[in-house]
Amino acid sequence: MSAFQIAVVVGSLRRDSFNRKLAQALVPLAPKDFAFKLVEIGDLPLYNQDDDGAQAASVQRLKGEIAASQGVIFVTPEYNRSIPGVLTNAIDHASRPYGKSAWAGKPAGVLGVSVGAIGTSLAQQHLRNVLAHLDMPTLGQPEGFIQAKDGLFGADGGIGADSKEFVQKWVDAYAAWVRRLNA
Ligand SMILES: Cc1cc2nc3c(=O)[nH]c(=O)nc-3n(C[C@H](O)[C@H](O)[C@H](O)COP(=O)(O)O)c2cc1C
Repeated sequence: MSAFQIAVVVGSLRRDSFNRKLAQALVPLAPKDFAFKLVEIGDLPLYNQDDDGAQAASVQRLKGEIAASQGVIFVTPEYNRSIPGVLTNAIDHASRPYGKSAWAGKPAGVLGVSVGAIGTSLAQQHLRNVLAHLDMPTLGQPEGFIQAKDGLFGADGGIGADSKEFVQKWVDAYAAWVRRLNA
């Protein structure tokens, strides 16, 4: 097993999601001692605090996957200049019950692709506020604001030639961040 298991949370459930494609394209870019694994959030119920004492199996599974990881990468679109509801729902679930958050202390990275020119920057800024509250130390630089353009992904699903160096640098910086915080 790799030394560093990283949970990758995608903030879109869309079948042809650019953000899921980006998340999948990160997997082969991970350093040898890292394993990036996408976690499912599409099967979670809508969060209801009444259920905190008896969390659904899907919620327990998500919390277990986060707890077993040494870091979390969020790859998210921007919805209405903020965080998509499905991602907020997943974050809320795994933050509860009070005092039993799965997120605390996990080094986070934030990336996002949008068709808009600002490349999810506002969603990421809102997400950073949430991650600070969750006590997740979050990589500051480089920021990963990516616009979906022709050629972003190659025919094999990997990152296209024009963006490969940028995304690889981001992955390497994130891996160094995780190593430092897990030392
Ligand atoms: C409800 C909704 C709100 C959106 N709001 C924004 C927005 O605020 N900024 C933006 O750049 N794109 C916005 N978009 C467009 C998304 O960037 C685009 O749909 C993108 O493909 C979503 O990511 P995905 O491909 O991973 O599903 C919005 C899309 C939807 C469905």
